[in-house]
Formats: sequence, structure tokens, C-alpha cells
Amino acid sequence: MTVREILNDATRELEAAGIQTARLDAEVLLAFFLKCDRLEFLKNPERQISKTQLAPFKKMVSRRLKWEPVAYITGRKEFWSFTLEVNKDVLIPRPDTEVTVEEVLKVAKHYESLINELPPSEFTGDNGHAGLDPASRLDSGRMFTLRMRGRNDKKYDETCKIKPSVIRILDIGTGSGAIALALAKEIPAGKITATDISAAALKIAKKNARNLGLEKHIEFLKGDLFAPVKGLFDIVISNPPYISATEYEMLPHGVKDFEPKIALFAGQTGVEFYEKLIYQSKNHLKEDGWLIMEIGAPQAEKIRAIMQESGFFENIDVRRDYAGHDRVIKGRKR
Ligand SMILES: C[S@@+](CC[C@H](N)C(=O)[O-])C[C@H]1O[C@@H](n2cnc3c(N)ncnc32)[C@H](O)[C@@H]1O
Repeated sequence: MTVREILNDATRELEAAGIQTARLDAEVLLAFFLKCDRLEFLKNPERQISKTQLAPFKKMVSRRLKWEPVAYITGRKEFWSFTLEVNKDVLIPRPDTEVTVEEVLKVAKHYESLINELPPSEFTGDNGHAGLDPASRLDSGRMFTLRMRGRNDKKYDETCKIKPSVIRILDIGTGSGAIALALAKEIPAGKITATDISAAALKIAKKNARNLGLEKHIEFLKGDLFAPVKGLFDIVISNPPYISATEYEMLPHGVKDFEPKIALFAGQTGVEFYEKLIYQSKNHLKEDGWLIMEIGAPQAEKIRAIMQESGFFENIDVRRDYAGHDRVIKGRKR
């Protein structure tokens, strides 16, 4: 059979089962089976493959016909700038979560710029360390209030709070490690802790960290929310389970029957994890630290209200994803 015929057959079968992404799925599975790029075989549609050779591909298509997600069939998923290993113990990372990563990067960049923009020899501090390189002094993790003098000798009469040169970030419910790994890759000053209640999920996250050479940048801990962590963080990030009891029953077959319930189901209302994260993060964030959470699109106002009522946060802000849905909420500890 030619590649063209194989793809047409598989697409027809998948379409008949009601799978809307039939053609794309057929191509991704065939590329995985042939261990090549999709473009490679699309450029050569007359390439011949014998029927006996095709048996493993047929098996993959029949798994997809039962609505198993393509990522579980291939065991991998693209996220950010890399490919992650995934299995049924972890949520398949969604493209929307890249928006969450972008939001964390914005906040982290602010910390980095505070460190980098300090003129090394042109500031005087209230701690008797004037003239030292700021980064070397900031490792201690203490906050400094400085009167700064600008690079062009223009005096700032401005008092600013300086963060430590190491940005401590906590990713709660790391799953495949998607968020923690993207942050580890993008934030050189990041010291990242990633937790999950699922030992099986952590196994995959650690494997992904090793595969990407990022294992030295992330500490993985098992436990319920903040229970396994020590010390204070500059940023707490989480994409927690947020599906309510009613929504769970209505999830698409491919999600409900294959992705781990522990990664999806939050409880009766769907905001249970947000309530805990908002109230518990207070004791784990540094002064001015940020809580950043991925949210289900219709939950933004409810979660904003919980953050406001807690009285722990200011600068509460919601960011939309590229489809225009509310996707990320953040707030700075008062
Ligand atoms: C929606 S998934 C997010 C996975 C990953 N961060 C991502 O964005 O793709 C939620 C994760 O939270 C974990 N989880 C569920 N309950 C938890 C708890 N009480 N404490 C810590 N992690 C929990 C699940 O195992 C799952 O990996």
C-alpha cells in the first residue's frame, strides 16, 4: 500500500468514529510509526509499505478508534520548546498551559531585571554594604531597601525592594513536569521545586527532567499541596484539578476514560483546590511573592472573589489564552 492509501484509509475509519481531528491523528500516528517527520512522508505519498509491516500502525489506529488520546498512544507530547514523555499517570499538557508559563516568566523577568539593573557600584544601602555587587549580597534571601543612584548619575530618590538573585519557584501538581521544566529552561536564576501527590506522575516528571538535562534545576517532592515543602517562595504556580462533579460527568470520552481523575476532578464546586492554594500559599510566599494559577475559563470571577475575600493578595489580574478565554489568575501577596 502507498502512504497516501494508508492515510486515506485510516482517516476514513477515524472520521467514521466521529473523531474530528481524523486526518491529523492519522498523520501523527503514521509519522510516529515510521519514525520520521510528517513532512517527510507527505512529500513522498507513493512510498510503499507492505501490509504485514503495517500491523503495529493498525493497532495504533484501533486504539485511537476507542478514543484513546494520540499522546498516550505515542507516549509523547510537544510542550513549550520540547517533547515530553507522557503516560496514563499524567495529564497530557495542554497548549493553554503555555500561557501560564508565559505569565510566570513575566513575573520572573521582573525579579531578574531588578537584579540585573542594579548598578554594582552606584548604590548605597541601608545595611552598610554600599558598593558591593548586588547579586552577591542578595543570595542571603534577605530583602534590602536601597536608595538608588541611576547609571547616568541621575539621582533616584526612590526606595526599591530587591529580591534575592535566586528566584524560588514552587510548581504544585507538576504532573508530567511541563510547567516546572519550561521554567527551569527559561529562568537561569530559578530554583524550582515541583510537587505532586501522585508518585506515578512524579516518576514521569523526573524522567522528563533527566531526558532534558534539567534534573539539577528541579527538586521533586511528593505530597499534598504545600505539605512537603520548606521555606518561602517568590512565586507559587499551580495548574490544579478544577473540574466540578457535574462537569466531570460531561467530559469528553477521550478525557474522562483515559486521563487520571486525580489530575482533573476537584470536588463538588470545582474551586476546592483554589481555595486551599489561596489560603495556604500565604504561609509559603515571601513578602510581595506571587501566586499564579491556571483556571478553567468560567471560574475567573469566582476565584478572583476568593482571592479578594482572603485579604492576602493585591494586584489581582486575569489573563486570557489565545482563544480569548480567561486562563490564568495571579495576585501579589500583600
Ligand atoms: C491539572 S493537572 C496539571 C499537571 C501539570 N502541571 C500540567 O499543567 O500539565 C493537576 C496535577 O495535580 C496533582 N494533584 C492532585 N491533587 C493534588 C494534591 N492534593 N497535592 C498535590 N498535587 C495534586 C495531580 O496528580 C496532577 O498531576
